[in-house]
Parts: sequence; structure tokens; C-alpha cells
Amino acid sequence: MRFRQADWSEPLIFELGSEGRVGYQLPGLEPGVRGKADPDSLVPASLRRSEDPGLPEVSEIQVLRHYMHLSQMNYGVNSGLIYPLGSCTMKYNPVVNEVLAAHPKILGVHPMQSEDSTQGILGLLFNLKRYFLDITGMDDATLQPAAGAHGEWTGIMLMRAYHKDRGELGKRTEVIIPDSAHGTNPASAHMAGFKTVEIPSGPDGCVDLDALNAAVGPQTAGLMLTNPNTIGVFENQISEISGAVHDAGGLMYYDGANLNAIMGWCRPGDMGFDIIHSNLHKTFSTPHGGGGPGSGPVGVKEALAEYLPIPGIAERGGRFRLDWDKPKSIGKVHGFHGNVNVALKAYTYMVAMGGEGLKESSELAVLNANYVARKLSKVKGYELTYDPGKPRKHEAVLSASPMLNDTGVSALYVSKKLLDYGLHAPTTYFPMIVPEALMIEPTESEPVEALDAFIEAMTEISRLAYSNPEEVLSAPHNTAVTKLDEAKAAHPKTICLSWRRFCALLRDGE
Ligand SMILES: Cc1ncc(COP(=O)(O)O)c(C=O)c1O
Repeated sequence: MRFRQADWSEPLIFELGSEGRVGYQLPGLEPGVRGKADPDSLVPASLRRSEDPGLPEVSEIQVLRHYMHLSQMNYGVNSGLIYPLGSCTMKYNPVVNEVLAAHPKILGVHPMQSEDSTQGILGLLFNLKRYFLDITGMDDATLQPAAGAHGEWTGIMLMRAYHKDRGELGKRTEVIIPDSAHGTNPASAHMAGFKTVEIPSGPDGCVDLDALNAAVGPQTAGLMLTNPNTIGVFENQISEISGAVHDAGGLMYYDGANLNAIMGWCRPGDMGFDIIHSNLHKTFSTPHGGGGPGSGPVGVKEALAEYLPIPGIAERGGRFRLDWDKPKSIGKVHGFHGNVNVALKAYTYMVAMGGEGLKESSELAVLNANYVARKLSKVKGYELTYDPGKPRKHEAVLSASPMLNDTGVSALYVSKKLLDYGLHAPTTYFPMIVPEALMIEPTESEPVEALDAFIEAMTEISRLAYSNPEEVLSAPHNTAVTKLDEAKAAHPKTICLSWRRFCALLRDGE
């Protein structure tokens, strides 16, 4: 078993150094000897501190090691063996994406520049939109939304504008959402002013058609759905679902978080969806660690194009211009064109992969998820719920309920113990319709050796749970901090950001 051992006992940079040691070199100051040059000639007195900021006095190599050590405390696809965070699609982010996004000609552009001087970047964004429409089967799109949830809200505002324009907003007050949905779906519908109606999933984890038919009616504004759904299963009755919603005069909204499973194979636009968002920061490889920044463009069918946010980017005869001429637009949902840097990374990824490459990456993502699902569903304590015989798409949701019942070890502790093996935990306790859920999405990035190492670690945890549960219940043992009080850690009043207090807590074993 491979362990990622980090030496957390190393002193902090505040505990290092000695008086007079210098790790910087400013022009005009002699290296290593403070005070020989006159700092007054470098920084005017009015801009200088009157008191020492209390920084550690360390050498350059100590600073370098400090930052290197900090970077090694981070976990990422580039450093860790596997990052199986279901629903998040934590795939490898090719370095070439960064090369384009960090190009001086891109970084130096200001959004207030004239159209004449921004033809290049407008062209890139226009092309990204074209590829996005091609991949999803929609007619027009906006790149403004900055995340999936922001895209959902934008999409539901478009739904609202559509019904309002037809004089039906007063009666179409409900958005139907399956119980397997991500929490952002009902939140977005609610924020856009709709009442949400939850329908239960059937025994196969898919939309229960009887429940849908009972819920849909003249009061329905639309349905929000992801396909494949959060169980990782493709809704193969999607035509019947779209038919039921459209017959009632409602619209179909596609949560594109799971697009990584189907790119190049089928398109939401062909499944009957009228409005979609895609999380570029998932499917198209731009990193979204730490909560952002992201990009959640929204695509629509022709009938909704006139409500899209302004400005759009239009092209005529090879020239690009901002299109403000949309009197029925819902307005702006983000400054300028959204998170352009993220969008350009996604564009680079699409161009580098090509159509066939995107299709193949979906195929591999599905293969990897099924490999893990099949192997782990045979391990004692884990169970593949909702029609285990059915192939999964890009992710698989295991339940640790049998393990909890037999040993007292819950999904939370399985996830914590995984950290000891130098692996990232899967998404835990989502979707909420699976008790003790462990939602695993290996993505196409991982070679079979990495999948095997993950399966081996999960198997080892099962063995430990059944032989020595305390070993799992007290995990993690091998990380910078042990199990945190998650409520306290999230609370701004108790969160500990002081290095002195942090060290004291660590030393007291808290
Ligand atoms: C199924 C699903 N829908 C929507 C979202 C929201 O996306 P974002 O995090 O980009 O706001 C997520 C995020 O993980 C998701 O998994």
C-alpha cells in the first residue's frame, strides 16, 4: 500500500531563523547585509512602516522550503494518486491550458478596450460558444455565469422570462425536481421565485414516471434534471420525461454537472432539454479547487434565445462585436463576459482534445467508474444500491450501510481513513437518497494502477473495520490535523487562523 507520508513535525517558518538573517535582495541593497544602503532612497518615508511587521528573519532557502512544504500539504490531481470526488469531476488539468490563459497577450487585455482592439479574445470566446453549442446540441448560449449554481439560476430566470412573455408566469409557479438532485437545483428554482416540487426516484434510481405524471400540470414551469443522474445512471426514459413536461407546457432544464459521462456520445439538446448549463470547470478540465473560480455557461433552444443575458458576442464577415440588441434579455448576470480565464482554459482543452478525444475521454471515464463499482461492490461492507446490475456512467455511488450496521464504521470514517493512505476521500453523504453514500468519480485521467490502489485502500479499510474498528474510527492518523469538529471548523467565530494558536492546538493533540 502506498502511503503519502508528510512530516508535520517540521517547525513553522515563524519558529525558524535568527536575527539579521536576510532572504531577500532589493536592488540597491547589498545582499545579506542589512542597512548598508539607504532604504530612504528606495521607499519614501511616507510609505514605510513605523514598526517592524514581525516577520521571521530567514534565508532564501528557508523561504523556498517553507513554500514547497506548504504546497505539499495541498492535495491535488497533480500530486495525489486519485481524487474521486463524485459529481465534481476532478480530472487532470493539462498544463497547456495554463499556457494559453497566462499568455501576456491574454492577461493584458482589459474588458473596457474597444471592440477593434479585442477581436482576438472575442473570437476565442465566440468559438468556445460554438463548440459548446455543438457538444450540447443547443442553439445559442451565454458565457457569463461563473459556476454551475449560477448557471442554474440564470437558466431558471430564462424559464421565468419565457413564461412571463406568454402571460403564464402567474399560473406556472412550480419547478419539479427529483429527490436525487443536487441541492443547488431547488435553491436556484426557489431564488428565481418558483415553488419546488420534489418527486421520488424509482427503484432503479431514475425518475419515477408515475410520480412525474402525477406532479406535472398547467402549474408546471419546468423540470430540472441531470442525465446521467447523481446515482450515475442514464435516464433511459428521457424522451417520455421530456414528452410529459412539454405536453403540459413546461420547459426542460438540464443540470450539466454530469456531462463528462456523455460528451460526444449524445447531447442534452437531442434529449428534449430546452435550457442547460455546463460546469466548464468540471467537464472541460479547468480546476475549481477551493471553491472557484468557475464557469457555468448556459445554452438554450431558439425559442429562449431572445431572453439570454447581454451582451452576446456576434460575428459578421469575420468581425466580432458585442450584441446589446436584446430588448427581452434578462440583463447582465456577471461583469463583462464572465470568468474569461476559466473559459479560455476550457477552450484550450476542447481544441487540444478534438471531437474524437472528448468522446474517448467520456468512454474512459465510464470504464473507470464501472471498474471501481464492480470491484468494490464485492467488498464486504459496501453495497451498490439502486439496481446494481445496471451499468454506471461516469460515477458510482456505494453505500457503507452494511459496514455501519455490522461494525459501527460509517461512510464518514471510511472517508477519513482514506486520507491515511494518501488518497482523497470521495464525496460523502451525497446524493441523499443513498444512506451512507460514498460517491466515487475516478474520471478518465486515472490509469488502472491508481484505480487498483484506491480499491486496495477501500478493501483494507473494510478489513480493518471488521477486525479492529477503533483503528478506522480514530482516523486520520497521518495528516496535519486529526478529525476536525466540522461544525466548529466551518463557524467563523471558532475557526482558528492564528499560527500560534494552531501550533498550541496541535501540540495539545486537539
Ligand atoms: C449535480 C450538480 N449540480 C450542480 C452543481 C453546482 O455546480 P457548481 O459547484 O459549479 O456551482 C454541482 C456541484 O458539484 C453538482 O454536482
